[in-house]
Amino acid sequence: MAKNDSPLDRYAVIGHPIDHSRSPLIHTLFARQTRQKLTYELIDAEPKDFETAVRGFAAAGGKGVNVTVPHKEAAFALVHERSEAASAAGAVNTISFAAGRLRGDNTDGVGLIRDLTTNQHVTLTGRRMLVLGAGGAARGIVGPLLASRPAELVIANRTKARADALVAQLKTPAGVSTVAFEDLAKLAPFDLLLNATSAGLKGEPPPFPGSIVGPDSIAYDLVYSMHDTPFVAWARANGAARALQGWGMLVEQAAESFFIWRGVRPDTRPILQQLAH
Ligand code: ATR
Repeated sequence: MAKNDSPLDRYAVIGHPIDHSRSPLIHTLFARQTRQKLTYELIDAEPKDFETAVRGFAAAGGKGVNVTVPHKEAAFALVHERSEAASAAGAVNTISFAAGRLRGDNTDGVGLIRDLTTNQHVTLTGRRMLVLGAGGAARGIVGPLLASRPAELVIANRTKARADALVAQLKTPAGVSTVAFEDLAKLAPFDLLLNATSAGLKGEPPPFPGSIVGPDSIAYDLVYSMHDTPFVAWARANGAARALQGWGMLVEQAAESFFIWRGVRPDTRPILQQLAH
C-alpha cells in the first residue's frame, strides 16, 4: 500500500492585517526545497478573535501557526509551554500543536542574529549597539543581542520609562543603559544601530539625531519594504557604512519556525535571493 496518500500537514500565519504577509510564500518555498508535504495559510483575525482562530485551526487538524502583529503577546499568554526565547521576549511568534497542548516559541531574535552574522557577516561581540524602540519588536531582540556580548547596549525610546521597564525585565542587564531620544545627540556614533520603532512610517522623518551615525556604522531596520524604508534612507543620508532592511530576519525567523515544526533546516540563501528580486 502506498504511503503517500496522507493529507498535507497544515500550518498558517495569524495576524491583523495579514494580506501582505510573505510567510506563505517563504514556507511554501522551504517545503518545496526540503520536500516536506505541507500547506501554509493566511488567517486574518482581530484581537478579539485571536484565541478562537488558534483553537479552531488546531481543532481542524492544523499542526502549528506563526503569530504576527498584533498578537504576539496574546500568543504568549495563550500557550501552555514556552521556550526560553519566548519567556525572555514575553512574546510568541511560533506555536506548535501537539496532543492538545500549545507550545510557544520566539524565533525573531535568532532570526535577526543569524541574518546579521551568517548572511551579512557582521561581528557583534565587542561592538557598541543602539536599539531604537522598546515595544514588542525590541523586546524580542535585546536578549539575543546581549548574548552576543556587545561592549555596550543602549536602548532609546520616545517614552524612556518603557525602555527602563524593558531593562528591568532582563535577566542580565550588565552593560545595558537607556536614553531618551532628546539625549541621543550627547552620545558618540554607534557601531550597530537597530530600528525597532515604527517611527517614520507615516511619512515624518525619523526623530533621531544624525550624529549617532558614523562612517563605520551599520544600520539595520527590522522593518522591510520593496523600497528604502525611512530609517534606511535616514541612515544612508547620515553616512552609514551600511544600511540594511529586515528581509533576512524575516526569512531566518521563518526558517527557525520551520525547523521547530519539521526538524529540517531549509537553506535560506536561494529564498532570500528570490524575495529580493
Ligand atoms: P512593536 O510590536 O512593533 O514593537 P509597539 O509595541 O507598539 O509595536 O512599539 C512601537 C515602538 O515604536 C515603540 O518603541 C514606540 O515608542 P513609544 O514606546 O514611545 O510609544 C515607537 N514609536 C511608534 N511611533 C513612533 C514615532 N512616531 N516616533 C518615535 N517612536 C515611535
